[in-house]
Amino acid sequence: MPNTSISSRPAGVHVAIIMDGNGRWATARGRPRTAGHVVGARTARDIVEVAQRQGVGTLTLYAFSGDNWQRPRREVSGLMRLFRRTILAEQERCIQRGLRLSFIGRRDRLPRELLLTIESVEAATAHCATMHLRVALDYASRDTIVRAAERAAAEGGPLTRERFTALMGAADHSGSTVPDVDLLIRTGGEQRLSDFLLWECAYAELYFTRRMWPDFGEEDLAAAMEEFRARQRRFGAVDDDGEARKIRSA
Ligand code: FPP
Repeated sequence: MPNTSISSRPAGVHVAIIMDGNGRWATARGRPRTAGHVVGARTARDIVEVAQRQGVGTLTLYAFSGDNWQRPRREVSGLMRLFRRTILAEQERCIQRGLRLSFIGRRDRLPRELLLTIESVEAATAHCATMHLRVALDYASRDTIVRAAERAAAEGGPLTRERFTALMGAADHSGSTVPDVDLLIRTGGEQRLSDFLLWECAYAELYFTRRMWPDFGEEDLAAAMEEFRARQRRFGAVDDDGEARKIRSA
């Protein structure tokens, strides 16, 4: 059972969040969509602190998908500026709180200033070990899988899950050990994965809430964590007597 051992995972649960609903939140208030993203960035900052307090080991936030380039140019450039501003504003606090910040996804299409900021904050927080915050930028899970498969074909040799996971890490800058997701949260009412961490979510518990991301708060994360802890995670296994076995709880 190669995917279920505790020792192969980083300490603390891995929570991944699809931060959806910024646009609708803003539109409902007669404001431009970008206003929703600005408030959403504040929510992200607050939720990072809450997650850290709640013992989350790895938090992966879906900030911009490969398909999001198809949004109006003004929204895209506004988002790119917001990402850079937010990272610069939070860098010092990340270091103080022992937060390692890294980015997954493609880097060749990001604006140069954003790319330099990303590289700089990754280097500045590389030693931090309290919690690992990963932000998915220009991220598309299926593209990552395709790039890893191309590399595997070029290199040849036997392909295992572990080796493929490492190739995925090289393809999307996750590093050599890509952690499985324990709990996937999506805000905004939609119930789909939208090309986010498809490989890593193989046994993730899924939690969908109608709350729009700008309104998502401490109690919402606590409720998701509580439901997650109450769920029975079987990873496909049952005991000899046929009873479903709780292999690992949060
Ligand atoms: C999805 O809502 C949200 C986004 C595409 C952007 C999310 C970005 C942030 C919250 C900023 C975070 C910044 C950092 C650095 C972590 P939507 O626009 O698709 O909303 P809608 O479904 O209501 O239209």
